[in-house]
Amino acid sequence: MGSVVVVGSQWGDEGKGKIVDWLSERAEVIVRFQGGHNAGHTLVIDGVTYKLSLLPSGVVRPNKVSVIGNGVVLDPQALLSEIETVRAKGVEISPKTLKVAENVPLILSVHRELDQLREAASGAGAIGTTGRGIGPAYEDKVGRRAIRLSDLLDEASLALRIERLLAHHNALRVGFGAEPIAAATIAEELEAARPILAYADATYRILREARREGRNILFEGAQGSMLDIDHGTYPFVTSSNTVGGQAAAGSGVGPSSLGRILGITKAYTTRVGNGPFPTEQANAIGERMGERGAEFGTVTGRKRRCGWFDAVMVRQAVETGGIDGLALTKLDVLDGFDELKICVAYRLNGETLDRLPADGASQMNVEPVYETVSGWKRSTRGARSWGELPAEAVKYVRHVEELVGAPVAMLSTSPERIDTILVDDPFRI
Ligand code: IMP
Repeated sequence: MGSVVVVGSQWGDEGKGKIVDWLSERAEVIVRFQGGHNAGHTLVIDGVTYKLSLLPSGVVRPNKVSVIGNGVVLDPQALLSEIETVRAKGVEISPKTLKVAENVPLILSVHRELDQLREAASGAGAIGTTGRGIGPAYEDKVGRRAIRLSDLLDEASLALRIERLLAHHNALRVGFGAEPIAAATIAEELEAARPILAYADATYRILREARREGRNILFEGAQGSMLDIDHGTYPFVTSSNTVGGQAAAGSGVGPSSLGRILGITKAYTTRVGNGPFPTEQANAIGERMGERGAEFGTVTGRKRRCGWFDAVMVRQAVETGGIDGLALTKLDVLDGFDELKICVAYRLNGETLDRLPADGASQMNVEPVYETVSGWKRSTRGARSWGELPAEAVKYVRHVEELVGAPVAMLSTSPERIDTILVDDPFRI
């Protein structure tokens, strides 16, 4: 038995959905440990497409336990409506198959509205958030005024919690020129969230038990390492830790329970939202990648920015997140280019750097140093073995491994689950 943590090694949208689905077939418990419904995972199973934001990818498979861990921020309405959408496709979701951490903090309308008010007031400094209230909900968690799922159980203290929450939010709302919000509105929202209590549990115990019974656990990360609140391109990041280590704190298991950390890595780079992107190709090359890779956000529908593979950044993700294997995705999007570029270092003020500097101004100003490698003409789409890949494509993959310092454990060559080259079983201990 084993555990695998799946994280994105870039700015999210690395194709985690397919890999997580592939792995979830082999796992018995699937756990979300950070983020919220800002994530977007698309799964295609037997020709049916599922778009999940908050539910762990295991929910669409029978006989799996899906866990929403304490490190997530949970929008009750988003969860209830996602459950309905998935049920409408014939998937059974019950309190036996879905477990929600009783101590998970809730996202309420005040969080969504504050996210949007603040973005609108930020002008050129806007982060380009998904507008779902993720940041404000994490702020309230850290500020010790969040309302957590288990708080719904005690009606007497709930009114006081709402009052405390609104004392903070209404001061901010007035500052932003918005109307204060009434306690009754929040009380109503919380009332509507009650059905979620049926799924509430001490999920850390469920995970402990699963480990004891020798079950495979898959920890499903959202976003990517460069959106990590500490290690990412701050402040253009999300508000949670997205690196592998968070799987432990965000679900209530010890770090030694995590097993392997698999970094999902796109064969080029994309980013949605604002912020530095050294290898961005705001030109015909980026357009071509975007078209071939269907690079539109699952959650917001925004067009993703596209650029060359940045080995410096992915190496940094390997280092900060303890990634010990890569799942390389979307190699087929690079088919047909005469030559490809890989960023191997940065230049800043006449100096060569082998890492992304921590300060935002330098991150904006670094110039990529590229190595140019041969492209390939033959299609790699749908390849299921190394032998089916053109020699130049194999060379590209090998070079990526060498530059980022982690081996490729899986290679994905189309959105279909079967089009996967397995090098190394990630559940191997
Ligand atoms: P937030 O998570 O909504 O606060 O957004 C902060 C930043 O993270 C923005 O640049 C978003 O575009 C980005 N972001 C959040 N979730 C995802 C995701 O699942 N994929 C890619 N980018 C994301």
